[in-house]
Amino acid sequence: MKSTNLKHDSAFKHVTGQSVYVNDIKANRQLIGRVVYSTEAHARISLLDTKAALKLNGIVSILTSKDIPGKNQMGPVVDDEPCLAEDEVTFIGQAIVLIAAETEEAAFEAEKFILIEYEELETILDLHQAIAKNNLITPPRIIECGNVAETLKSAPHVLSGELETGAQEHWYLETQSALAIPGEGKEMLIHASSQNPAETQTIVAEVLGISKNEVDVEVRRMGGAFGGKETQANHVAAWAALLANATHRPVGIHLFRDDDQKITGKRHRFFSKYQIGFNNEGKILVYSVELNSDAGSATDLSRAILERAMLHAENAYFIPNVKIVGKAYKTNLPSNTAFRGFGGPQGMAVIENAIDKIARFLKKDSAEIRYLNFYGINERNITPYGETVLNNRLHIMFDKLLASSNYAERKKAINTFNIVHEFVKRGISLTPVKFGISFTTAFLNQAGALVHIYTDGTIAINHGGTEMGQGLNTKIHGIAAAEFGVSPEFIKISVTNTSKVPNTSATAASSGSDLNGMAVKNAIEILKSRLTEVAVTQLKEKLNKETLAADQIIFSDNSIYADSHPEIKIAFRDLVKQAYLNQISLSTTGFYKTPGIFYNRELGKGNPFYYYAYGMAVSEVELDVLTGESKLLRTDILHDVGDSLNPEIDLGQIEGGFIQGVGWVTTEEIKWDKRGNLLTHSPDTYKIPTVNDIPRIFNVELLTGYPNEGSIRKSKAVGEPPLMLAFSVWLAIKDAVSAVGNHLFEPRFSLPATAEAVLLSIEEIRGKLRN
Ligand code: MTE
Ligand code: HPA
Ligand code: MOS
Repeated sequence: MKSTNLKHDSAFKHVTGQSVYVNDIKANRQLIGRVVYSTEAHARISLLDTKAALKLNGIVSILTSKDIPGKNQMGPVVDDEPCLAEDEVTFIGQAIVLIAAETEEAAFEAEKFILIEYEELETILDLHQAIAKNNLITPPRIIECGNVAETLKSAPHVLSGELETGAQEHWYLETQSALAIPGEGKEMLIHASSQNPAETQTIVAEVLGISKNEVDVEVRRMGGAFGGKETQANHVAAWAALLANATHRPVGIHLFRDDDQKITGKRHRFFSKYQIGFNNEGKILVYSVELNSDAGSATDLSRAILERAMLHAENAYFIPNVKIVGKAYKTNLPSNTAFRGFGGPQGMAVIENAIDKIARFLKKDSAEIRYLNFYGINERNITPYGETVLNNRLHIMFDKLLASSNYAERKKAINTFNIVHEFVKRGISLTPVKFGISFTTAFLNQAGALVHIYTDGTIAINHGGTEMGQGLNTKIHGIAAAEFGVSPEFIKISVTNTSKVPNTSATAASSGSDLNGMAVKNAIEILKSRLTEVAVTQLKEKLNKETLAADQIIFSDNSIYADSHPEIKIAFRDLVKQAYLNQISLSTTGFYKTPGIFYNRELGKGNPFYYYAYGMAVSEVELDVLTGESKLLRTDILHDVGDSLNPEIDLGQIEGGFIQGVGWVTTEEIKWDKRGNLLTHSPDTYKIPTVNDIPRIFNVELLTGYPNEGSIRKSKAVGEPPLMLAFSVWLAIKDAVSAVGNHLFEPRFSLPATAEAVLLSIEEIRGKLRN
């Protein structure tokens, strides 16, 4: 099998049930861990009494903040997140008490006997209220270029607007889970479902008050993460570790779905305001935007997420005068966190909406306005933060997609359809994505690997990345096979473990394969150079040559040969055996750091991204004017992954990411009651896309023939960018609603475009038509 065609684990192991998740691992004498959490959004704890509960049968240990041996902290960046609440709670779902029980029933029973009394404090649950009170969680940030004030005065047209984008629940299939197994002395082994095992190790060590070398964190795979396990998997691991430490028994915690949804953070909702100035042609001259995010009760990753939102505020468009202000506010909700796109979607939504407004204002096709404003190839190619957009694929992709989707003709057909149909309207939209690849916190762009070759010629690869369904291990498998020139069958990718590859970054920012792939390649190059020395000696003898240069040695087809004599081969396995007999080390680490990237957050300037990934989509919807519901008739996607590491996996990421985005822009609405209780905490009220929401016609293609020089096997990252292609659906719905008023009025609905929101917007437009 070709190394680029390797099948994802899910193709066989997931469907046959062989894949192992945390909750499948059972340790001897294992206890059930349960978290008792706050029922108040903001309150002082006036009474906390666990005595009665502790006396119950089957209860082994009950812990409060007072029982934490180390630091009562689990904030990943800022120390503002107690592991267990002390005197005060700041959101509903905040952990206060931990229970270790012999059975689930006992744990439930004990919970009833734990007395917690609260004195209510003033709460802020609404983002607008937080904005009004200027309840900032982190200092505001600005990115600015050109002269915004002047150009807003001189621009022929200026439109202004506001946009709300909603929160989003990760809905990973495997809820937050951890199993903590105490070892000898202070040792603690954590089986975690974490995107960030090194940080899980740090937090566990800190709460236990022990050093990191006592803690091993192992991640086999996650049953989905989507950013929700970048920091917040640390929590459940820390809780399990505290209980295991107290009881000297293994403790597993596996959150129930409803608890998971209530306790954990979501995608940050944003409220944004903008002004956009343009000329008669539709060329954007100036853009001023303020992005306000709801961080929830603690900082978590809110700074970096806000930063990425700001760095994507202009999306694919060159705008000479830009001012982007970013603010994150504290509210009494669970701390919001990473979610596929990491703020990028929230930043881009505003400009995409604004461009639609420009098109409606000028009575032009929105795709035309988009094209007109794309970053240029050799000019008009500097971003507001000063990075030059290189290898711009936007124009090529636009031309290809416009043709393959038959955009122009369908647009005409839709107009005709809308003239003859009163109660059904169709809409279409094309939207681009330009997504910056790299962690914007520059030092995080590093990765390590550990590669062993055994004497039978088989290879074990370890890397610092984690598998969450995105197919990272399959991609690394393919990379290793290609770099070693051996069949994939000889290679095994083993579990991620902090004792094998230390100090890793989270598998996030879509850069898992870029960073870890390069680290693995680095290790393989080191091993190959050692094997080459042995091969040179052997081949010189076989070929009867005096000299043979190392660069003439080829590793391919499970063998090694000189490029001048491909017929005289040494089997890989034999060469390995010989190297072993020659006392040559067959094991090494590898390392990689992304070159040349930096970003100064205070100045809002730098080169934060190694490169950009591009995508483009055209979506067509059909709207039922009487109910506000719409269905997705067709989507065409063209996506740029450079030279694909694995086309099947990349297509899966594009389709999955897009559909996850469709959920965010259409049906996934999160609601809280007035006290801060999450109302949408299970699938009956929280509507993620189902098989019915996939476009009736779904054409997804990879852009081919455009290698990405300088990255692993010339590929590009793919994990997050496709999510933002879903703006094509949101704006196609807008286009259909706009058709209700013959495109005379601006449809006013925010994101998500739920049937309810759309219906209200239709009613508003029909009201205007009647007047
Ligand atoms: N795909 C699946 N199936 N499951 C996931 O949890 N997470 C996404 C994306 N694709 C995710 C996924 C997110 S948020 C990121 S950052 C990337 O995968 C991380 O993996 P990568 O860097 O290896 O692409
Ligand atoms: N993406 C994802 N996770 C991160 C980032 C980022 O840019 N920065 C810090 N953590
Ligand atoms: Mo992804 S949101 O960077 O884990």
